[in-house]
Amino acid sequence: MNINFTYLPGDGIGPEVGEAAIEVLNAVAVKFGHTLEPEHHLVGGAAIDAGEKPLPDASFESCQRTGAILLGAVGGPKWDHLKGEDRPELGSLLPLRKRLNLYANIRPCKPYPALIERAPLKRERLEGVDFVVMRELTGGIYFGQKGRDTRGAFDECLYSEAEIRRIAIKGFDLAQTRRKKVTSVDKSNVLETSRLWRETVIDVAKDYPEVELEHLLVDAMTMHMLTRAQDFDVILTENMFGDILTDEASVLCGSMGVIPSASLSDGKTGMFEPIHGSAPDIAGQGKANPLAMILSAAWMLRLSFGLKVEADAIETAVANALEQNQTTGDLGGKLNTSAVGEWIAANV
Ligand code: IPM
Ligand code: MG
Repeated sequence: MNINFTYLPGDGIGPEVGEAAIEVLNAVAVKFGHTLEPEHHLVGGAAIDAGEKPLPDASFESCQRTGAILLGAVGGPKWDHLKGEDRPELGSLLPLRKRLNLYANIRPCKPYPALIERAPLKRERLEGVDFVVMRELTGGIYFGQKGRDTRGAFDECLYSEAEIRRIAIKGFDLAQTRRKKVTSVDKSNVLETSRLWRETVIDVAKDYPEVELEHLLVDAMTMHMLTRAQDFDVILTENMFGDILTDEASVLCGSMGVIPSASLSDGKTGMFEPIHGSAPDIAGQGKANPLAMILSAAWMLRLSFGLKVEADAIETAVANALEQNQTTGDLGGKLNTSAVGEWIAANV
C-alpha cells in the first residue's frame, strides 16, 4: 500500500518527535512491504516564521487531499504576542479541525503497567483503568462568536442538536465495541447547551439498548475520575469539558508523553497528534519523549489506512520499550529522542 499522508511537524518539540515517528513508519513500511509518502508541510509558528499564514494554503490543500494528517504540536511563547487568528492555535489547529469537519476527538486512558508508579494516585485506583474520552471538537464555546464590547468580553457557546447527535452516535458506536457503557458529561444544572446535550444523548441511547448510559455533571466528573476511574468506558462530552478532562485523564497514565489522539470526521479522514503540546522549554535538546507521536502514527495506520497488524506492531514495540526502560529521561530512561525512535523502529 502507498501510505500517503500529510506530515505537519509544527513547533517546539514537534519536529523532533515527528522525526522519530517517521523513522518508525519507515521501518514499518520496509517490514510490511508498503511505501511511505509523507507530504511535509508548515503549520503554526513555523509557518509564521517562514512568512506565511499559520495554516498555509498548500498545507491545507495537502491535508484535504490525503485525508490523513500526522501533526506534532503548534504554538509557543514566541508567538504569544499575536492576537486572534494570527496565533498558531487559533489560526491553524482550530481551522484544521473545523474545515476538515474533524468533530470526533478520541483520547485514550489506559495506564501502562510500567508507568503506574509514576502516577500520583495509589496503584489500586489505577489498575484496570481503561476508558476513552470522546470529545466533541468542532462546536461549542471554541467556535462561537467572540469579542469585546462595552459590557466586557464574551465567548458564545452554541450547539445544534445535529452536532450533539453525531458525536453521541460516535460515542455509542465506540462503546458497543468495548465494555458497553457511556458516561455523558455536561453541566445541565446551569447551561442550556448542556440541557440540549443531555436530551439528545438520551434520545440517541434509545438505539443502543445494550449500552448502559450514565450522566455526570462536569464538576463531579473531575472527582469521579480520581476516585473510580475503573468504572468508565466511554466518556462522552462537549468541546471545552473534553479539553479539561483529557488533561486530567493524562495524569492517571503517569505521563502526558505517551498519549496519542485521533480527530475524526465521517469516513476515513483523520488527524493524529499527541495530546501534549510543543514543550518549548525542552525543544531542540533531544529530551522530548516521542512515544505519544509514535503511537499517533500507529493510530493513523489503523484508522486512516486500515493497517491493523502494522499498528499493533508499533504499539507492542512501545509497550516493550516501556518495560525495558528504553525511554527518555522523563520516564526514567537514558535515551534521547531519536534513540527512542531508533529502538522502536528496530523492534517493530
Ligand atoms: C488540545 C489543546 C488545544 C485545545 C489548544 C492548543 C487550542 O489544548 O488539543 O487539547 O484546547 O483543544
Ligand atoms: Mg487541551
